[in-house]
Amino acid sequence: MKKILIINGPNLNMLGKRDPKQYGSMTLSDIEQLCRVTAEEYGFEIDFRQSNYEGEIVEWIQKALGQFDALIINGAAYTHTSLAIRDALELLKVPIIEVHLSQPKEREEFRHFSYIERLATETISGHKEQSYVMALKKLNDIIN
Ligand code: DQA
Repeated sequence: MKKILIINGPNLNMLGKRDPKQYGSMTLSDIEQLCRVTAEEYGFEIDFRQSNYEGEIVEWIQKALGQFDALIINGAAYTHTSLAIRDALELLKVPIIEVHLSQPKEREEFRHFSYIERLATETISGHKEQSYVMALKKLNDIIN
């Protein structure tokens, strides 16, 4: 069974309370459930995590080396700021799918740049929780 690590960055634990126009109304635990149902369909085992701490995310990525077949990451605000997360991602030899609930490129200018984008096999943005479902589907095409 292929193993997929799903990392969620800062403030995504507050989904359900954040602007529903940008992020939808599901909580992160609803999204985790949706990912579990989808992963089961594709025969993936998933490890779904969230952290508000940059260093913790860096360590998760470092420890993922050799342990997972793919990574899905919503870096949230760290997408636009974290060279440290970018450098950790560069270590991984497996497909990386960048996801966003909203469409950052159509929002404020400070959200237009992504440190993750160039290392990602694909970026899926703007489909609210369905971005995660689409990322799993993409991985099904690539690694299954
Ligand atoms: C986000 C977009 C980021 O710009 C923002 O900082 C987030 C969430 C998204 O999923 O749309 O926290 O990554």
